[in-house]
Amino acid sequence: MPENNQIVFFDTTLRDGEQSPGCTMHHAEKLRMAHQIAALGVDVLEAGFAIASDGDFNAVHAIAREVRGTRVASLARCKREDIEAAARAVEPAPSNRIHVFLASSDLHLEYKLRISREQALDHTAESVRLARSFVEDVEFSTEDGTRSDHEFLIQMITVAIQAGATTINIPDTVGYTTPEEYAALFRMVKARVPGIDDVILSTHCHNDLGMAVANTLAGVQAGARQIECTINGIGERAGNAALEEIAAALMVRRDKFPYTHHIVMDQLYPTSQMLGECISFGVSPNKAVVGANAFAHESGIHQHGMMANPLTYEIMTPASVGAGNTNIVLGKHSGRRALADRLERLGHLLDRDQLDQVYALFTELTDRKKLIYDQDLLSLMQSGKAIPVAVPVLVEVPVPVAVPVEIPIPIEVPISR
Ligand code: KIV
Ligand code: ZN
Repeated sequence: MPENNQIVFFDTTLRDGEQSPGCTMHHAEKLRMAHQIAALGVDVLEAGFAIASDGDFNAVHAIAREVRGTRVASLARCKREDIEAAARAVEPAPSNRIHVFLASSDLHLEYKLRISREQALDHTAESVRLARSFVEDVEFSTEDGTRSDHEFLIQMITVAIQAGATTINIPDTVGYTTPEEYAALFRMVKARVPGIDDVILSTHCHNDLGMAVANTLAGVQAGARQIECTINGIGERAGNAALEEIAAALMVRRDKFPYTHHIVMDQLYPTSQMLGECISFGVSPNKAVVGANAFAHESGIHQHGMMANPLTYEIMTPASVGAGNTNIVLGKHSGRRALADRLERLGHLLDRDQLDQVYALFTELTDRKKLIYDQDLLSLMQSGKAIPVAVPVLVEVPVPVAVPVEIPIPIEVPISR
């Protein structure tokens, strides 16, 4: 059992993430990702669904053989063949887990599985017991837990614990719950299930209403100590709770979330980038924490603030999540200060009149061109249109490159409130 405030990060990028459209990975890509996810510091890595295909089995098995520093898990339905395949696949890992799941909502039991509640309880007990005969660490998930009858949910979790489950996961399978409701569900389970204090409670949230991360954090505040999530939030439909967003929230709002974990924060961005290389899409530019614009500033007011003190518009440093440096992007919303600063770095120190003149030309250019690179500014200066007199060059002219300027950030930690 982890310490009371210790969060177990369970990454399911290679299982729940990989099974969604556009996210298929080849064997070598899964292995590459698995090594990186382990380096990121996740405690449990769900490597796949061993019974799903030979490819899945081989990937889980190879990860269990090769990847160290994390517990390797495979998913399994409440079926003997699934559990046996999962056990064989994770067997080479020094620490492993079988993750068994069964639906707990009447909707799933009746229409999808066509079994009664009694049958579901029997399957739960038999399957968890079978999984425990192979490994010490067995997780049981109540699929569609957030749309399940509470009395039945309690019964099912009780049966799973009695059969030997060590982690109980209550998934919001269809991204339906709200933070308050999810927290209440965990509090209810903690209050009513016998033996609940001997297991770890886990969140697993989908993002159909855009609340996966908020729901996850609410679950943690109500007593969950394992978080299931994926890199870049990939996963079924609108995805799963994004690991990088949760880790950043725990870092920035430690006042609200006083928990410890093993995530290596500066590996967040590299891991996100690597996943983008392995699947068919990267993150949107405005994605929290790892998007291209997460630490970029174009508007004049914001650029002015950032130059005065980065804390004005950034609640964490890009370096703290491994994302390099702040980008001051020159475009039509930029002001004189950012332009003067960039030109000075390019070797052109301007007085006020000169700056006014160049700024007029700059804004004219931004009406025609959306992003202004250093090369554009140098062309503007060299065209002769910019300023009539040569100004002393105070700094060496660096080789112009078409990348945004870097602002050194004085601090590495968010402001404490
Ligand atoms: O969303 C879900 O319910 C799942 C389970 C299999 C854990 O992914
Ligand atoms: Zn899921």
